Amino acid sequence: MSGQHPEYTLLQLKAFRSGERQNDQGGMMRTVVERLTDQELEALASYVSGLN
Ligand code: HEM
Repeated sequence: MSGQHPEYTLLQLKAFRSGERQNDQGGMMRTVVERLTDQELEALASYVSGLN
């Protein structure tokens, strides 16, 4: 996931939040992102894309 394009990461975070993506056992990712704002998801996507 590190080095991933921020656009892709942001789409996945939003997909988990909306429930569109559900391949996280027990809703792990959903629990992580459900209370985050768009701005916070953007900050995470930007951070993740900078990890290497
Ligand atoms: C703020 C911290 C986190 C961020 C930014 C994050 C980000 C992501 C992203 C972007 C994906 C999609 C990866 C892909 O499509 O290649 C993902 C998948 C996933 N994450 Fe997280 N995650 C976080 C925390 C967690 C935590 C704490 C857990 C477990 C409790 C977790 C469990 C999972 C699982 C199970 C998947 C699905 C893996 C699969 O596709 O098989 N994540 N995460």
